[in-house]
Amino acid sequence: MTLRMLAACEMSGRVRSAFAARGWDAWSADLLPDESGNWNDSPGGAHYQGDVFNIIREDWDLVVAFPPCTDLTQAGARFWKQKQADGRQQAAARFFMQMYVCPSPSAYVAVENPRGWMTRAFREPDQIVEPWWFGDPFAKKTCLWLRPDNFRLPLLVKQNEVVPTGRVTTGGGSWRTDQANGKVNMNNWEDSQGRARRHILRSLTMPKFAQAMADQWGEYIERQRG
Ligand SMILES: C[S@@+](CC[C@H](N)C(=O)[O-])C[C@H]1O[C@@H](n2cnc3c(N)ncnc32)[C@H](O)[C@@H]1O
Repeated sequence: MTLRMLAACEMSGRVRSAFAARGWDAWSADLLPDESGNWNDSPGGAHYQGDVFNIIREDWDLVVAFPPCTDLTQAGARFWKQKQADGRQQAAARFFMQMYVCPSPSAYVAVENPRGWMTRAFREPDQIVEPWWFGDPFAKKTCLWLRPDNFRLPLLVKQNEVVPTGRVTTGGGSWRTDQANGKVNMNNWEDSQGRARRHILRSLTMPKFAQAMADQWGEYIERQRG
């Protein structure tokens, strides 16, 4: 039986491609077009460009969701009052919760976000991981909420651990901010993409983190359902 996975709110195709390489029927879904060709010579799987709610209830074995964090992240806490007053934060929190609740009860579900409002509004994450745990040499506290209902994913464990050489900036700040944080990889390319795209590029899942999800969660679900 071919296992099916959805990387919800993913346009980088990184998680999707890592699962496709294991032989899964792997999909990403995003309002934006698939950008996997920009950093992967042979991306795998398929991309659905459109509203993720059109497909999130399908019969997936695994849903890994990356809901927008702009109105939820601790890094933007100084804007929370304003965002609560105009409803943006509540809307972002509702979107996050739908990623958690909507997939079929037979799916394994993980929702990813930086530390922020959901820890207060929902609950503590099950796990906080770092890109350097998996071989990407950056620090970026990344929270994972694992749905506990019928099928619960195992916690990720470190693989190919390296020493972080920089911190990943979120948002649309300048290239100089990245340099100050020691982030040197990708900056020339990022800069060539222009300021308007920086916040998007900074939200991309790191490639080795994507690989670790496929290695560890992929293998686990294959053992349970294969
Ligand atoms: C934080 S970014 C996640 C990026 C992801 N980690 C990656 O590597 O591509 C959130 C994404 O959610 C997408 N998005 C927002 N609302 C959506 C919706 N209703 N349906 C599908 N995608 C949506 C945005 O376009 C954005 O790319």
